[in-house]
Amino acid sequence: MCGIVGYIGYREAYPIIIKGLERLEYRGYDSAGIALFDGSGINLSKTKGKVEDLKAKAEASISIEGSLGIGHTRWATHGVPNDVNSHPHYSNSGNLVIIHNGIIENYGAIKEELQNRGYTFSSDTDTEVLINLIEEVMKKEGVMLGKAVQIALNQVVGAYAIAVFDKEKPNEIVVAKLGSPLAIGVGENEFFIASDASPFIEFTNNAVYLEDEEMAVIRLGKEIKLRKIKDDSIAYPLVQELQLNLEEIEKGGYDHFMLKEIYEQPHAIKDTYRGRLRSAQGIIKMAGVDDHLQEFMDADRIIIVACGTSWHAGLVAEYIFENLARISVEVEYASEFRYRNPVITDRDVVIAISQSGETADTLAAIKLAKEHGALVFGVCNVVGSSIARETHAGAYTHAGPEIGVASTKAFTTQITVLTLLALKLAKERKAISEEDFTAYMLELEEIPAKVEKALESNAIVEIIAEAYKDSSNCLYLGRGYNFPVALEGALKLKEISYIHAEGYPAAEMKHGPIALIDDQMPVVVIATKKGHYEKVVSNIQEIKSRHGKIIAVVTEGDEQVRDLADHVIEVPETFESLTPLLTTIPLQLLSYHIAVMRDCNVDQPRNLAKSVTVE
Ligand code: F6R
Repeated sequence: MCGIVGYIGYREAYPIIIKGLERLEYRGYDSAGIALFDGSGINLSKTKGKVEDLKAKAEASISIEGSLGIGHTRWATHGVPNDVNSHPHYSNSGNLVIIHNGIIENYGAIKEELQNRGYTFSSDTDTEVLINLIEEVMKKEGVMLGKAVQIALNQVVGAYAIAVFDKEKPNEIVVAKLGSPLAIGVGENEFFIASDASPFIEFTNNAVYLEDEEMAVIRLGKEIKLRKIKDDSIAYPLVQELQLNLEEIEKGGYDHFMLKEIYEQPHAIKDTYRGRLRSAQGIIKMAGVDDHLQEFMDADRIIIVACGTSWHAGLVAEYIFENLARISVEVEYASEFRYRNPVITDRDVVIAISQSGETADTLAAIKLAKEHGALVFGVCNVVGSSIARETHAGAYTHAGPEIGVASTKAFTTQITVLTLLALKLAKERKAISEEDFTAYMLELEEIPAKVEKALESNAIVEIIAEAYKDSSNCLYLGRGYNFPVALEGALKLKEISYIHAEGYPAAEMKHGPIALIDDQMPVVVIATKKGHYEKVVSNIQEIKSRHGKIIAVVTEGDEQVRDLADHVIEVPETFESLTPLLTTIPLQLLSYHIAVMRDCNVDQPRNLAKSVTVE
């Protein structure tokens, strides 16, 4: 978590860093800070709170001049969010200053050693320990900053993306990466450093992404040279041309990124299948699968690893894979999988799903699966992310940047890509008839227009939100393909509106949750016509006889549930396995409107961060 930004060049660094931090606030937003070199010394300002608080504080208290600087927006790990624990951190001499995204696990022992040598610490952070270790190495070994960073990093255990500069050598910034992302934007006689490319996209579209265990001394007037932290060997930087454009990372007239991203779904889903779904030729083209087709064909089972919303997409995929392709699937929380000594063989295919491509637990699960010889296939949104690079093959979701912390378009595009994969494998394995395969392809092409239609429920959803915005609990029920949608609906509500919500398979209700139902309990039930419809209707009856308030998501034209429910939200009819792409839309809108009405920070809910790069 945490976002880091740096600049060295000929422009004023302050506005670039502040704007960059605002774009990276999705990564953490409990405190922020900046350090600028003004030609003679370092001016540093930091504060608990958001980047806008930092702006107010910095502009009132320090000189904001200078064309070298670093900035940080924090998601606290070590030490509570307060002014002192915020980054950047000085070394004891005041010469060095650092920003850090990650965790130094052995900081306690290093701190003790440094304290024995007379170092003092003002914060509770692991980062302040690291910068003083670097300073101690410089003193003891008589080396320059770059070398000192390298020696120090060989002594630490943990994860980091860091940027450090020395006020005695203000023509360079030293950066290093292990486990947390770090991109360098390469301009004409200027360099940008950031956790992702969004802070520098309007200045350059040339970027170098550091690999794990790489570092660089970025020096004005010099080309970037990457070194391996462990053995000092030189790695040649691959300068990539970025596809990102500025429009994609701005709100475009919407009040919140989340709402923009909800409304982007028809387009995003189309972008996901574009070029892959070739209905005229009757094929699904996925290069990453074609390159490993034999492994997919020989697989005894598919293991899906993911976290949060991506895990929910994995659950939907389990139903789809098993039904269409007749392959056995297990879906695992990456955080559990990585620590439970799972049985993995070289006949397993592991699919890792991650919007950010940076989730620490998912990355660790991938490494474990690779060690056991499994083929690992990634489904990521962020191009060039760690997971995309760590997997043997994969398919991007092409949803465009997702900035709202609550995942929306990532979920539906993940399901789209996984459906394509399931259909492709179903065809290869001859588990589906040509007729059904064609029908699925044609129906998938209808989905963007049907999502558009589902978005028309916004007005009714807003009325429902008004009625239930003050609830303290909410239940979400669904069956089959829509059970994971119930889980996802509940997650969306709790994470952005702070209302306690639980998702259940509808039939499980009578094994416990039914005890919660009274006339104060809103129950969102997904009751589309296909699959288990009559059984869900019975579940609705059970809720009604206990006076629960029923909000039903139904297929267009449904009359039976309309008679029973307090509110109905219609979505167009589609194939049963594709219903999650539609039923999830009103649930996203419901949580969005409730959160807005409760005055919650929709795009940056408390305690959360977009990329969970710590375990
Ligand atoms: C919820 C949400 C999180 C993420 C989870 C995994 O709205 O966004 O639950 O889904 O942290 O993140 P990725 O997909 O980036 O691995």
